[in-house]
Amino acid sequence: MKFDVQYVRQQFPALERMLDDKPVAYLDSPGGTQVPQSVVDAVVDYLVDHNANIHGFFDTTIETDHLLADARDTLAHFLNCDWDEVVFGFNTTTMNFLLAHSLVHDLHEGDEIVITQIDHEANRGPWISLQDRGIVIREAPVDTATCTLDWAAFEDLVNERTRIVALNWASNAVGTITDVRRAAGLAHEVGALVVVDAVHYALHGVIDVRGADCDFLLCSAYKFFAPHGCGVMYARRSVAEMVRSLRLCTQLRETPFKFETGTLDHEAIVGAGAAVEFIAGMGRHHLRRLKADAGLAAQLDGLDGRRRDVVAGMVAAEAHEQPLGRRLIDALREIPDVTVYGPPDGHPRTSTVSFTIGDLTAEEACRRLGQRGLYLWDGHFYAYRLVERLGLLDRGLVRAGLAPYNTAGEVERVIDAVRELAVEG
Ligand SMILES: Cc1ncc(COP(=O)(O)O)c(C=O)c1O
Repeated sequence: MKFDVQYVRQQFPALERMLDDKPVAYLDSPGGTQVPQSVVDAVVDYLVDHNANIHGFFDTTIETDHLLADARDTLAHFLNCDWDEVVFGFNTTTMNFLLAHSLVHDLHEGDEIVITQIDHEANRGPWISLQDRGIVIREAPVDTATCTLDWAAFEDLVNERTRIVALNWASNAVGTITDVRRAAGLAHEVGALVVVDAVHYALHGVIDVRGADCDFLLCSAYKFFAPHGCGVMYARRSVAEMVRSLRLCTQLRETPFKFETGTLDHEAIVGAGAAVEFIAGMGRHHLRRLKADAGLAAQLDGLDGRRRDVVAGMVAAEAHEQPLGRRLIDALREIPDVTVYGPPDGHPRTSTVSFTIGDLTAEEACRRLGQRGLYLWDGHFYAYRLVERLGLLDRGLVRAGLAPYNTAGEVERVIDAVRELAVEG
């Protein structure tokens, strides 16, 4: 399928930025994407024309109620759930802490929670913090040779004392996609809840919370074209209704509102809805081309309306990014002294590619790449335990993350620059 990258690029004003007569190449999407004009417009429109707190009886407060309800509907299509299963907050880390300290109300001393070594700290720290309450944390190891979850060890850890299993859908550090449905199957067999971190996955894969069979799923909308300040949590209704959430006595007791503490970031929530509309627009733009490709068209079977458009947008973008990621991995592997970290060929992965260059620290490599207008991230990206297990905490990883607005030309620029850095040392 031919992806119309120019149609996408022209919607992002940030891509006009230049450094020394060359356009800047944003390869930092796992840290957050750029924002399309339609999202900027939606945020400005909210702040200029509708800005108010909620649940009042004058026009702007009523408009705010409607806009937040619209955004909730839109995010429900993004996640494939009902509107009352969509919780808004500020970011994944904060929401997961709140979730952990809500779920703990129904845990007992000696109950176990399984976390993994492949996860970002945002889906480890909140659970680890429950150790103070007598909860036992079990950590499923990562297989460092393949940068994948060690499934045999994971299966051994899940037992009748397990009450919660927390794992990510995709690793923000090395791109590995993990079979969360398989984890959910194992967890549910013993009556445990499943909490999925989809922060990195959300830019790269179709989220289907029903298909994944998870109980909670979290993501942060700035990773998929929205401004900062809006975290999104799916809470399965039948489970959410039972949870004694951390909340004020003045707060609504119904789900999803029972999980939403204090005044939210209305403009960021409006922006998150507009960001999903942007993805849907990308889907509509590519619909005919997708339908002409039997493999891709199959992913739209049985879908209609906004959900179909969102899925089409995600499928089209991934069809564009995967070959670019492949090219990047193959070319980097050819460069002497460059080591690429990530799952083996053929294993599901995102187009996020991490590597080291000779003896250079990631910080130094990214500084020099930045001077060439190539914006890549360095370090452990808060996937601290994984990078520690890889033995790379001292020097860190260099991470190139692709988004739908990246081009083959930008990938070639990265390859050429890394080649130069490998020679310069
Ligand atoms: C996989 C993953 N999980 C969780 C987070 C935490 O997200 P936030 O900083 O929005 O809380 C990130 C952020 O980079 C991430 O990549």
